[in-house]
Amino acid sequence: MRKIAIVGFKGGIGKTTTCVNLGAALALRGHRVLIVDTDTQANVAIALGINSFQKSLADVLIRKAKAEECILPARQNLDLLPSSLALFKAQQRMVLELAREEIFSELFVGLDGYEYLLLDCAPSVSLLTVNAMAYVDEVFIPVSMELLALAGAQQFLEYLKTISRTLGKGATIRLIIPTFYDPRRRVSLRVLGALEKTFGDRVTKPIRVDTQLSEAPGAGKTIFEYAPRSRGAVDYARLTETVATMPPLDRDKTE
Ligand SMILES: Nc1ncnc2c1ncn2[C@@H]1O[C@H](COP(=O)(O)OP(=O)(O)OP(=O)(O)O)[C@@H](O)[C@H]1O
Ligand SMILES: [Mg+2]
Repeated sequence: MRKIAIVGFKGGIGKTTTCVNLGAALALRGHRVLIVDTDTQANVAIALGINSFQKSLADVLIRKAKAEECILPARQNLDLLPSSLALFKAQQRMVLELAREEIFSELFVGLDGYEYLLLDCAPSVSLLTVNAMAYVDEVFIPVSMELLALAGAQQFLEYLKTISRTLGKGATIRLIIPTFYDPRRRVSLRVLGALEKTFGDRVTKPIRVDTQLSEAPGAGKTIFEYAPRSRGAVDYARLTETVATMPPLDRDKTE
């Protein structure tokens, strides 16, 4: 099972959009996928058109339910472990626990039968984000095409190194995903160039700006359902091809 966190400390850079559409596209290719929403904003369920559910990740954290009991079927091959506002309170309780940075590993033992586990993360340094990064092997970082987002990505790298040192192990940054790319804007070319200089071939082909990508979650649909011929659908299908065909993680090469 590939365990991947989609993170980045800036808000609104396309983390959830990437998680939902990458998950959906992997599922369409026949892979069994589980998305775990670790953000208290609980956007993934909304984006997938799931409006009511009883249990969420918050119940797992307070040991009221097992992770596998909270899973909702979202699409064929695609399941969701949803978040809720209650996650905010549950996180506060987590602060008091021992080995609190590695609680996900303990609570998610029953999650099997999936080829991909994608964790959507909040745009903040929280115990939930640290747990997500301690749990996964791979990290994907969306970076929107603005100079501030570039700075955010660099800060994030430093932070990831600190976490790895503290935990004695670390997830590997496998992909940097340029988002909100607009080739007519000079800043897009500049940020993309800077990313490629720093991260080399870990930078994927960009996801272009596409209003249909911003409309799809409001309709509770993935981009492949909402606008299958759109730029967004083309770009996320291409990203998915990259993800599905990349070589397995070489643990010796981790930073
Ligand atoms: N390539 C794109 N083109 C146009 N709009 C986009 C694109 N990607 C995402 N959006 C829209 O931008 C907004 C922010 O995207 P998204 O929610 O994926 O970001 P996020 O990083 O998860 O945000 P947060 O940090 O709040 O969790 C959403 O309304 C989304 O629909
Ligand atoms: Mg989000």
